[in-house]
Amino acid sequence: MKSTLVLLAHPNLLKSRINRALVESVKSLPHVTVHDLYETYPHFVVDVKREQELLLAHERIVFQHPFYWYSSPALLKEWQDQVLEYGFAYGQNGVALQGKEFLSVVSAGGDAEDYRRDGQNYFSVEELLAPFQQTVRLCKMLWQKPIIFHGVLDWDDKAIAVAAEKYRSVLTEDSS
Ligand SMILES: Cc1cc2nc3c(=O)[nH]c(=O)nc-3n(C[C@H](O)[C@H](O)[C@H](O)COP(=O)(O)O)c2cc1C
Repeated sequence: MKSTLVLLAHPNLLKSRINRALVESVKSLPHVTVHDLYETYPHFVVDVKREQELLLAHERIVFQHPFYWYSSPALLKEWQDQVLEYGFAYGQNGVALQGKEFLSVVSAGGDAEDYRRDGQNYFSVEELLAPFQQTVRLCKMLWQKPIIFHGVLDWDDKAIAVAAEKYRSVLTEDSS
């Protein structure tokens, strides 16, 4: 199976219902490395070399996070700003990430109906992930269809368990 690095970005995992359950469901998979960014870098000082080594060591990169202000929590942006260096991720000789699969896994408080042209958010979550998608393109990674969980604030334990199982099955379905 594809070695998979899950970059988890949640500022308060203890209070999380969704992302905590999601990550619990995949962290025991032998080909999956869960990397909790807020736990590792509480002061936003990212170890660039370590992060680049982690990226190099995996074939699939997952960004898992709650949707915050139509994007990710801030540390994941800081991580991108620091780690995706010219000459490593893009630009001349910057081919370290070329050919790796990339998957966004996002939980959103808003319902799917809110993320339509006639809804209050106008854009779909997938459309709002455009900066991530273009980053993936620039780094010559392979954008996979994102996993987006909507309306999560109303979810009961059963709905959370179903989502966690879906996530786990996506990360295990690839037999290559
Ligand atoms: C600072 C902040 C910003 C948020 N922004 C959005 C948003 O733009 N769109 C949305 O649908 N939900 C938004 N939410 C709701 C979160 O996406 C939701 O609380 C989260 O997905 C729940 O996951 P968790 O149980 O792992 O914390 C926001 C929540 C917070 C705290």
